[in-house]
Amino acid sequence: MAKLLATGGRPLTGRVRAGGRKNSAVAVLPAALLADGVTVIENLPDIQDVWVYAELLRSLGVKVDLGPSGNGEALRAVVDPGGLTPHSLSEALVKRMRASYYLIGVLLARYGRAEVPFPGGCDIGSRPIDQHIKGFRALGADVRVEKGVVKVRASKLVGAPVYLDVVSVGATVNIMLAATLAEGTTVIENAAKEPHIVDLANFLNAAGAKVKGAGTDVIKVTGVKRLPGGTLHSIIPDEIEAATFMVGAAATGGEVIVENVIPKHLEAVSAKLIETGATVEENGDYILVRGNGRPRPVTVKTLPYPGFPTDAQQQMTALLSVASGTSVITETVHEGRFKHADELRRMGCNITVEGRTAIVQGVERLTGAKVKATDLRAGAALVLAGLMAEGETEISGVEHIDRGYEKVVEKFTSIGADLRRVE
Ligand code: EPZ
Repeated sequence: MAKLLATGGRPLTGRVRAGGRKNSAVAVLPAALLADGVTVIENLPDIQDVWVYAELLRSLGVKVDLGPSGNGEALRAVVDPGGLTPHSLSEALVKRMRASYYLIGVLLARYGRAEVPFPGGCDIGSRPIDQHIKGFRALGADVRVEKGVVKVRASKLVGAPVYLDVVSVGATVNIMLAATLAEGTTVIENAAKEPHIVDLANFLNAAGAKVKGAGTDVIKVTGVKRLPGGTLHSIIPDEIEAATFMVGAAATGGEVIVENVIPKHLEAVSAKLIETGATVEENGDYILVRGNGRPRPVTVKTLPYPGFPTDAQQQMTALLSVASGTSVITETVHEGRFKHADELRRMGCNITVEGRTAIVQGVERLTGAKVKATDLRAGAALVLAGLMAEGETEISGVEHIDRGYEKVVEKFTSIGADLRRVE
């Protein structure tokens, strides 16, 4: 199995480009199956989840040409659902990533039926799908979960109001997908407002759908008969990948310019980094972050967008582990998202986890150790900790990192990190 070797002590400096947003890519790829014709998707990140999704679509008879696009940085997909046949999905592929469950909304919309094994995904909490099921039932579908498979049937989908009991990105996406071709209007209340919800809505509208209100907590989808196809869509930048480099700059006392970002999507992260004493300058489509010595302790509370993103919480924990005082981190989105604390403790961090709260008492310095990535963003946090620590850190579980970070070694070494992949 591959491992990453990180040696700390060098400030991250230079310019690095954020790739396409993982969580938008894994929503727009299945959404392309709603169209009869071909869809071209650009600025896809070169990450495992995108390659696996392409395999998943091919297993349904969809033609997917996936490869480097013109500018050499990102991937481009040409999706032709002409041969789509809704037979059962490959369980092995579905288990590899949570976002495979978006195919339920798509197959339900197109064929009135779907059978998808219960999704896998990062081990960061229970991650139920009751709100997805609530939405499908509201649209008139019969939903059963049998032997670990979600089975949905509907002779016809009819638009309806759905009030989400909890702000859920996944449920918002899945209900939007199912509602696109339903008869009549669906209103999703208490909807998620993440930038990739807006990106998906922009794609659907460009493809001929009628989605209003994305980015607010009320999204209205007026069903249409069909989506002709022929749409070209470019995925928005990945603000979580960007946040990871920003936190890294602050944590190593460096100065990094992250290019190809939408600063507005990073306001909560920028504000929090400024609170720790870092310098953050926003300009057009790049953000500059400079570390100014030992970070100050802060309070972090993760919330749905536009609050502080849960997907940047673990990276922030690494930074605060060397702060000049005690920080309090509350994870309100995923109840099990502190597994990285055990690993960070091996590097000298002083973290106490009580339920959804972590108390982080800053220490003078971290020391390198053998650690294991338990999920995607925990892996990112361990890379940052390894670049902060004295000596060498060996990180296993790299497959988690490769799911969501494209060219992680190349990108970090391009800004001065001493980071290597060893088989
Ligand atoms: C998406 O997961 C992201 N994954 C996650 O990113 C991200 O952490 C999360 O949204 C929050 O932003 C993808 O987009 C593929 P939720 P999702 O439904 O959709 C509860 C990463 O690192 N809930 O918004 O699964 C749930 O338990 C990954 O890129 C229900 O109770 O998240 C959680 O506590 C990790 N019932 C909360 O809502 C449901 O039916 C938010 O979950 C659905 C969710």
